[in-house]
Amino acid sequence: MTTNKKLLAWVEEMANLCKPDNVYWCDGSEEEYDRLAAELVENGTFKRLNDDLRPNSYICMSDPSDVARVEDRTFICSEKKEDAAPTNNWMAPAEMKTKLTGLFDGSMKGRTMYVIPFSMGPLGSKIAHIGVELTDSAYVVCNMRIMTRMGQKVLDQLGDGEFVPCLHSVGKPLAPGEKDVPWPCSPTKYICHFPEERSIWSFGSGYGGNALLGKKCFALRIASVMARDEGWLAEHMLIVGITNPKGEKKYVAAAFPSACGKTNLAMLTPSIPGWKVETVGDDIAWMKFGVDGRLYAVNPEYGFFGVAPGTSEKTNSNALASATKNSIFTNVALTPEGDIWWEGMTDKKPAHLTDWKNRPWTPESTEPSSHPNSRFTAPAGQCPVIDPKWEDPAGVPISAILFGGRRAKVVPLVSEAFDWNHGTFLGSTVSSETTAAAVGAVGQIRRDPFAMLPFCGYNMGDYFKHWIETGEKADQTKLPKIFYVNWFRKDENGKFIWPGYGENIRVLEWIFNRLDGADIAVETPKGFLPKPGTSNTEGLDISPERMNKLFEVDMEEGLVEMASIREYFNSFEGHVPQELYDVLEKVESMYKKS
Ligand code: OXD
Ligand code: MN
Repeated sequence: MTTNKKLLAWVEEMANLCKPDNVYWCDGSEEEYDRLAAELVENGTFKRLNDDLRPNSYICMSDPSDVARVEDRTFICSEKKEDAAPTNNWMAPAEMKTKLTGLFDGSMKGRTMYVIPFSMGPLGSKIAHIGVELTDSAYVVCNMRIMTRMGQKVLDQLGDGEFVPCLHSVGKPLAPGEKDVPWPCSPTKYICHFPEERSIWSFGSGYGGNALLGKKCFALRIASVMARDEGWLAEHMLIVGITNPKGEKKYVAAAFPSACGKTNLAMLTPSIPGWKVETVGDDIAWMKFGVDGRLYAVNPEYGFFGVAPGTSEKTNSNALASATKNSIFTNVALTPEGDIWWEGMTDKKPAHLTDWKNRPWTPESTEPSSHPNSRFTAPAGQCPVIDPKWEDPAGVPISAILFGGRRAKVVPLVSEAFDWNHGTFLGSTVSSETTAAAVGAVGQIRRDPFAMLPFCGYNMGDYFKHWIETGEKADQTKLPKIFYVNWFRKDENGKFIWPGYGENIRVLEWIFNRLDGADIAVETPKGFLPKPGTSNTEGLDISPERMNKLFEVDMEEGLVEMASIREYFNSFEGHVPQELYDVLEKVESMYKKS
């Protein structure tokens, strides 16, 4: 238990508002997890998988209307609209609180309010922060136990200290005697963040990023505001350790928009012998400067909440191996043997399944068996290539930061920024082309700066400024070097030029050698590009001409890109710092001279 007055008062106040039947403080024990999971089985929310095939694991089918993050229902409620604009939905905090108070009033009737104390980051780490989530969902409690360090040990660590209050309700009170449904939720949804008071109120959804409030809501939206105010970085980045054949190791953080292979890079199996990639995190990095002036990163999470479809032995055997036991699967298909399956898991489709909507499924079925955003929740410690330092409270020293996107043209396989400001420029211009699968014109460029578009808790232009200021304050010789990668360049026939996946280690090798100061780069308007012949293509079936295509610099094309970036910067109504306009002008003049 706790004697933290602020926490006790808040729990009491919220219990009075939400009116649950009882309040339960989670201790985080295995016994508690097993008991709640058994209750979820009893309620029809969970099915226990076959213990011979997938020990201590559960499958869960959500309500078909509650399957993903709801960006249009996500709000940053800062005092001033300008502090949330222009990339976030905004409502004045007082107005939103009135609305939410109405919604939460009695919202937990007939249910238990669970109190989940959780630490984002290793307990006691100077980089970590504590939150407390109040929720009426046992599904949330079970997932939070995998995704965060949670329970009594967090209260012990908290003492009388500060925590981020996170209130969550599925928004489906039960009348006396009313039977619960397997997946309670509400058609009314609000995912709200109050940056000035550093609190989160989430109503109506039981799903992932809407309900596991430690992840996107705290570790990115609220933490990005804390990071701005306190001089650190909260980023939508994976963290990996890379070891070369000589046994030298460097840590790298990387930001990619969705559908660009982030989890695959986080757990990459290198195609060339002697290299090793180890995982610290697959989604979020919190980074602070150490006393030695270097930037140190922790993964604030404790588990993976990964997209299931497409994950296979071939694309990411380590992700698959992480979820062999003690895992929760949401909206995937169930096999007759009591195991799970999803599209792309095996080449041969199973003959019979129960699909994510609980219907019989065969390969002839017209709809996929699993929802495209179906997920596995797996303990990070189960990843076969988890880094030995992934729980180090000091974090790992970051030598390089990578940005990347999916671009068929213009953007080279790899480039190195001239300096921190140019790197910030590259981060601010991260973009991906829309594919035929997405709504809108194919090949249209969608900017997703720093891959933070849906996750930045304040004005995106001010966030760029925070990056510039972070670089200014730091010891320039110790700052990570910044790179931009693009695995997705296509030839004139629309075919990918670069093989990707495990072969991406070759790009990491070039980056690794650049960090050691190797003379293998030429200056271009796009940054430093590999000198011809300095990328390791040994054993790869790719001609020098095709390699050159990956690094083509075209003046016309480059100037069009710069014009589009200028227009993009102008859309932030004066919040983009002058330093980024200066970089833009410098690059433009380099193109003109080239
Ligand atoms: C995620 C996301 O779920 O970025 O990690 O949407
Ligand atoms: Mn993510």
